[in-house]
Amino acid sequence: MKKAKNESLFSKLAEMRHAGQTSFHVPGNKFGRGLSCFLTAENLSLEALDYTEIHGTDNLHAPEGVILEAQRDAARIFGARETQFLVGGTTVGILGAVLGTVPRGAKIILPRDAHRSVLSAVLMGGLKPVYLLPEIDTATGIALGVSADMVKGALRSHSDAAAVLITYPNYEGVACDLKSIIEIAHSHNTPVIVDEAHGAHFGLSGDLPETALSLGADIAVQSTHKTLTSLTQSSMLHYGTDRGLGLKHRISSYLAMLQSSSPSYPLMVSLELAASYYEAEGSKDMAQLLGLIEKFASKAKLLGYRFMHESMALPAGFAVDRTRLVISAADLGIDGYQLYQALEEAGVVGEFATPLYVVLIPSLVSNASDFNTLMASLEKIAQSTVSAVTIADSGLLRVPVLRITALPERAVSAEAALWSEQEWIPVAEAKGRIAGDFLIPYPPGIPLLAPGEIVSEEVLRIVQSDLGIQHKVNGLSDGCFSVLKMQTTSKKVK
Ligand SMILES: Cc1ncc(COP(=O)(O)O)c(C=O)c1O
Repeated sequence: MKKAKNESLFSKLAEMRHAGQTSFHVPGNKFGRGLSCFLTAENLSLEALDYTEIHGTDNLHAPEGVILEAQRDAARIFGARETQFLVGGTTVGILGAVLGTVPRGAKIILPRDAHRSVLSAVLMGGLKPVYLLPEIDTATGIALGVSADMVKGALRSHSDAAAVLITYPNYEGVACDLKSIIEIAHSHNTPVIVDEAHGAHFGLSGDLPETALSLGADIAVQSTHKTLTSLTQSSMLHYGTDRGLGLKHRISSYLAMLQSSSPSYPLMVSLELAASYYEAEGSKDMAQLLGLIEKFASKAKLLGYRFMHESMALPAGFAVDRTRLVISAADLGIDGYQLYQALEEAGVVGEFATPLYVVLIPSLVSNASDFNTLMASLEKIAQSTVSAVTIADSGLLRVPVLRITALPERAVSAEAALWSEQEWIPVAEAKGRIAGDFLIPYPPGIPLLAPGEIVSEEVLRIVQSDLGIQHKVNGLSDGCFSVLKMQTTSKKVK
């Protein structure tokens, strides 16, 4: 049946575009800025370049012409030995990199708060995950990531691990001490794969954390679409070392299996254009962005907003991405969800909220007018607040964060769980049962539970709290969750 016009995806997005909201969320191209300069010069739109593999257009899965050249240019621009374009986001890059590096059934060392694509790779490869529980900054509740000592300990106990995977930076822009981690892993001759989904812009300023490649990563996967200017779903996989390049043949095989055999030319062209923009204008525009942020932050702080990075106690070797705005209005008596909603009502759309703060993502094409709109909205919100409470008094820090604080117990492997007989039960009754699927609040896309793990009290508390209401939790449907029919045994899987 034909849908009413106002119910269609197209009409919804059209309505949103016509409303002219200001984007402080991904993608970084901010509705085409940074791409349009190339396209209007040629009087073209990206859909006019919706080609397929015909004479002259090359082939992503066996590039030897224009795609190979574009990838070579990108490698030079981003400081890689070689680069592959991805049309399935960093998600597919992580899947390819992990499956092509870690033999089936072997061990991989990784943070438990890795993105779901990493845990999906663990499942698909039948891998044995050696999880590290990231430290949490006590003042802000923000996850810091894993330390070099944790990786050292894991490599000592699991010297047979085939790879170390590190998230760098995390969603809140915290960049862990990757340099030390890489040194330790390499001293064990273990390759390091870096999920740099949120760090594609790091090479544009000395005031940002160093790039994973410059720190010696063997493989780094970047979401060019998140913080640079390509189209959503277009990412890059960079090989940084000989060790990384030695894995390329197998990673390429997996990428060819996991990605479409008809990769989108608009996506690939947008990657090439994003790299050109990065090279020609990137450093200048990033300097301008950092200037805008500095001015904006000093004004917003006078109104009582708190920039969470400044309240954090960063361990040595850690850094933060200054373009990732993690802002709390708790001192004005407003929680993160209320602030997000008030901003949205004022026409400013952020990336996501937690009980304590909102995360806003400007990019190198964000301009003074975007920041003026944001500032005006924050001024209005600050004026309309009635109560003033301190962060400590607000109780917000006692609200469970979006992450678990203890490693879950695993009863069976993720793959075995997925293939076991399952039943849907109300999540409230799931304590102690074995998860049949992932349970993932979006954003940030970090699984609270993976298949095969035992549903803990903590996970239930999180999904039944405000968080479960405010966030879309993938895996939950009408308050029900899929668990294994098999009951928990006390035997833990190693
Ligand atoms: C840390 C992290 N890694 C990987 C991904 C996947 O990236 P993509 O959206 O490019 O597939 C995301 C997406 O949000 C992420 O936050």
